[in-house]
Amino acid sequence: MTEHPNEIQAQSGKRNSLPLVDRGLLVKVLAPATVANLVCGFDVLGMCLHEPNDLMEIRLLDEKKIIIISADGYPLPLDPAQNTAGAPLVEMINELPGNIGFEVTIHKKIKPGSGIGSSAASAAGAVVGANYLMNDFFSKQDLVRFAMFGEKVASGVKHADNIAPCIYGGITLIRSIHPLDIIPIPAPELYVTIVHPQIEVRTSDARQILRKEVLLKDAIRQWGNIAALVAGFIQNNLLLIGRSLEDVIIEPVRSILIPGFDEVKLKCKEAGALGGGISGSGPSIFMLSKDELTAIAVENVMKEIYNHIGLDYHTYVTTINQTGVTVINN
Ligand code: HSE
Repeated sequence: MTEHPNEIQAQSGKRNSLPLVDRGLLVKVLAPATVANLVCGFDVLGMCLHEPNDLMEIRLLDEKKIIIISADGYPLPLDPAQNTAGAPLVEMINELPGNIGFEVTIHKKIKPGSGIGSSAASAAGAVVGANYLMNDFFSKQDLVRFAMFGEKVASGVKHADNIAPCIYGGITLIRSIHPLDIIPIPAPELYVTIVHPQIEVRTSDARQILRKEVLLKDAIRQWGNIAALVAGFIQNNLLLIGRSLEDVIIEPVRSILIPGFDEVKLKCKEAGALGGGISGSGPSIFMLSKDELTAIAVENVMKEIYNHIGLDYHTYVTTINQTGVTVINN
């Protein structure tokens, strides 16, 4: 570490100078939900949504500490090292010279354990907001690196398939996390319908139950699907996207945790969805549709199924968010 902040060399990407007064002392951000895996791309593909969002306020402090406030009384851990927004900021201030810290107030709208990137939203919102106050000192890639410490707190392992789309927006491919290699993929203008059955699936549990080895024939099918899905996004080929949304490795194991999963998938496709599956580690299920009318028809199918099962749920009809975490004022 060099003595003057302006002289700090970038390890990766650009690092700007640090005129702290430029952007004020407080920033508000909207931190969006994300769909990790995109069915076949376990831990390597993710997509950012317009709804729902956490609202976060990040305030600059002139001492090297992190303060976490849960605005709506949600029982979040307030010890920064145990908090998904706090742990990334602890890493960040350790790479900053001088006495800089942050107070983070979280209005949690994305329920933890929902499978739509609740922990990633807190982590990404915190680092993007803090970086805004520091005149974009760190690169996006640095922010992903910090934010992954939040995922480690939440699920015991670092993964970037929620964090990267939350910070970059759109659809991202994570070729590697050691070293970080993030490839933004052009995202078609698709509608996304989400149903969140009101049960909690902890990501750590949903990872624990997975088989540690896969058959070569399954691996071949899976990487064929991943490559074809990426090609489908790039070519805006909706039929290719639809038939590549197939997971022969993770879904057969995890879907047992989600009541009504097979019926939702089948009937949503009959209603016109291109395809879909488990969002992240579940229990939310997502479906992609080519237009809003279809996405609403798909939502109605989901509602009917969970009304029939007698399980509470939330649904969202939304679109792909190309921006990621958004600063809404300062
Ligand atoms: N790729 C991760 C998993 C995402 O499926 O465990 C968790 O949100």
